[in-house]
This record gives sequence, structure tokens and C-alpha cells, in this order.
Amino acid sequence: MNIHTIILAAGAGSRMKSNQAKVLQRIGGMSMLQRVLQTTTKLNSKSTVVLGHDKEGVLQHLQDIEGNISTAIQVNQLGTADAVKSAMHNTKSSETILVLYGDVPLVSEKSLQELIDKSENGFSILTTRLDDPFGYGRVITDADNFATAIVEEKDASEDEKLVNEIFTGILCISQELLAAGLQEITNDNAAKEFYLTDLVKIISAKGIKIIPIRANNDEVRGANSKSELEALESILRNMNAQDLLDKGITLADKSRTDVRGNVDAGNDCSIDVNVILEGSIKLGNSVSIGANNYLKDVIIGDNTTIEPFSHLCNTSVGSNCNVGPYARLREGSTIEDGAKVGNFVETKKTTLGKGAKANHFTYLGDADIGENTNIGAGTITCNYDGTNKHQTTVGSDSFIGTNSSLVAPVEIGKNAYVGAGSVITKDVPDDALAVGRGKQIIKEDWSKDKK
Ligand code: UD1
Ligand code: CA
Repeated sequence: MNIHTIILAAGAGSRMKSNQAKVLQRIGGMSMLQRVLQTTTKLNSKSTVVLGHDKEGVLQHLQDIEGNISTAIQVNQLGTADAVKSAMHNTKSSETILVLYGDVPLVSEKSLQELIDKSENGFSILTTRLDDPFGYGRVITDADNFATAIVEEKDASEDEKLVNEIFTGILCISQELLAAGLQEITNDNAAKEFYLTDLVKIISAKGIKIIPIRANNDEVRGANSKSELEALESILRNMNAQDLLDKGITLADKSRTDVRGNVDAGNDCSIDVNVILEGSIKLGNSVSIGANNYLKDVIIGDNTTIEPFSHLCNTSVGSNCNVGPYARLREGSTIEDGAKVGNFVETKKTTLGKGAKANHFTYLGDADIGENTNIGAGTITCNYDGTNKHQTTVGSDSFIGTNSSLVAPVEIGKNAYVGAGSVITKDVPDDALAVGRGKQIIKEDWSKDKK
């Protein structure tokens, strides 16, 4: 089956009180539209996004998204049927059309696959049950539970308003049935709009059995306001945290764990409260992530602990390491097995060799630190000369005294020592001691004479 998804994204979304199109509002760090497109890509479907309000903004955004994506323009927002009609020139009669909303971002691949599978008669619709169905199209069914009509709130009779099975807006239909049905839709209703939902009555009247597929109501919620957006964020957080629990990760509090990407983990990992996991996160066995950590695109080996309040980006940390509290590991940091990074230490494009330590108040940028070397508190690599960045290399088993400045490019050998407070501008050979600081002087009785 060739699936072609039409994503409705032309609406204004004025209740968001934003200068951007509604579908560009983000949840879990990704626009609602991108989330929908991610799902269609998983379904191997091509997509046509229907643009209207802020089409320039949406087009710009689409340039950064990969996939088989085209666009169509709906000139005036005359209703959901008109929106679908404006995309039909992109479709082929051999295709099955899936209609999604750009502002309903959490619908699962599983529910959509079921909807597609059950469209064997040519047409299936995704529904849900709501305690308060106010405002939604009500699904009218026959004795055999096939859908015969969808009635919008404004057009519903008192009896129809009591129906609590509602249409989610999502449907799956053969292109040929859709093309024929669209010809028959008029705007003869209370809103004077072309309702896509009229398809149900039109196609049911042709004797085709329309199967309603019921989804859970969290995944088919949309967002029209910042409150609803926040509600989606919380649903997504909950879904993702549940996913971590299902993978066997221990969470201190599901409601205080934010996953904004993909997490892979071995056994016995634990995550304390207020942790944000973004991008691609790979954890080994028995990794412990303390409270209030931010991790983006990080690989962490077995038995490593990330203490609270650390910030790790584009970083790989080995096994049996200890990082933080208050560490900042920036892009291109590699912390090898058994190494330690303590509080207020920042690294960038730096390798800290096996068993090496940088325990307090240090900046290591563009540096390669050998195995078992100790970087004293307050050590700074002066990697930037105002124009270019330069490299610092320190061999294994060396000792950099506290408060030293290593002026790059500079190379310090193996088993070498740097005295505290040194400014190192020249290379230091293996096994040497380098001291580069003003000599201490003593003036006896100096303060006595002053008085
Ligand atoms: C629609 C359904 C209703 C369903 C509800 C679920 C119709 C007539 N009604 O109602 O049965 O219960 O969704 O949320 O379809 N859009 C366009 N162009 C337009 C109009 C809308 O692109 O001309 C887009 C909107 O941006 C939005 C989506 O289509 O993403 C739905 O439109 P909206 O006006 O919100 O439909 P509802 O009245 O909520
Ligand atoms: Ca709506």
C-alpha cells in the first residue's frame, strides 16, 4: 500500500498569541509539525503539508526536516475539506490517503498503522471517547458499529450532543473514494465551512462500511493555546518517562524526568529528579545520573556517576568515571575510563585520559591530557590568542600545580611537574619540573617599620 499523508497546517492558531504558525510551536524541543512528520516517515509515507497562515515560516522550517515532504497552499481557510482538496493535485489514484493535523503531534505510529490496516473497505476514521465531548465532531454509528456520519457541535441535535465518541480529525481513505467524496461536499452548515467530516455520511450512503478505530485520548489531543501546549508537554513527558521505566531504568520521579530524544540504557541505571535528556543518549550498565542534570548527545560507560547540576553536551564519558557536581563538558569532550571531573570544571574538545583528574575550578579547551595526570585546581588552558585556537598536550603521570596557565600551543611531557601559579609558555620535557612565576620575596619587619 502506498501511503500519502496530507497534513493540515494552514490554520491561524490565534489563541497561541504567537508570531509563528501554530504548528511551529514546540513540545519536547521539537515543533509539533516535525513530530508529525517524524511519525509519517516511520510509516514510510510521503507527506504533503497544507500551508496557509505564515506559510513562509513553515516553508523555512521544512527546509531543515528530512523526509519525502512536499507542500500545497490553501489560499483561503474555507474548512478542512477545502484544505485537503488543495493538496489533491499531489496525490495519485493508486495511493491511500492518511489525513493528519499538524497540531495533533502525539498520535502514535501504532494507532495509525491500525487505522491504515483497517481501511480495507476504503475508509477508516480515528475516534476517541471523551467525558466532555463539547466542541468536537460526534461520531454517529449504526447497529453494527460502523460510522454513518460525523456531526459538528454547531450542527448537532440535543441527542447527538450526548454522544461521547468524537472524531479526532484523523482518517485514512483510498484516494479515489476521497476524490469522489470531495466533489459532493458543500458548505451548507452552521459554520459555512467545507467540512471534511461530511465524507463519512457521503461515503456511508454509497454502502461502504466505515470502521471507527478508537485511540486513547492522550495521543489524539491537539494544542490551540499555550495551556494546551503545556498539557501536551506533560503527556509527552509522561509517555517518554514510561518508556524509560519499561527499559528498566529506575526513576526517582516520572513527572520530573524530561526525555527530548532517544535513550538507550543497559541494566540498573538510575536517574534522579529534574534531569533533561536530549538528542541521543546511550548509557551503559549501572550509570547513575544525579539530580538537576542536563545531557545532550552523550555516551556514558558502565558504573559511571554524574553528580548533580552538571551540563554535558556532545560528550563521551567512559566507565567508572565521576563527573560533577557542577561540571560542564562541552562539545568534543572525551573522558576516559576511571577519570574524574570535579566541580566547576569546563572541558571543550578535550580528552582526559584514563584515571586522570581535574577536580576543581578548571578550563580545559583543545587539550589532550594523558593517563593518570592530575590537573590542579584553577588550571586554565589559554587556548585562544584572540584569533585562533591552539592545542595543549600533557603527557601521562604528570602533575600540574594549582592556578597554572598553560599558554597554547604548548606541550608538557610525561611524568613532568608544573609548580603552582606558573604561566607555562614553553614546552616542558618528560620528567622535568617547570616553575614560571615571580619569585617570592620576604621583607623582614616590614609592617613594624610602617607603624
Ligand atoms: C475538526 C473536525 C471535528 C473534530 C476536530 C478534532 C471538521 C469539520 N471537524 O474540527 O470533527 O472533532 O477537528 O480536533 O473537520 N485547517 C486548515 N484549513 C482550514 C481549516 C482547518 O488547514 O481551512 C486545519 C487547522 O489548522 C487544524 C485542522 O485543520 O490543524 C482542524 O481545523 P479546526 O478548524 O481546528 O477544526 P475543528 O473545528 O477543531
Ligand atoms: Ca481544532
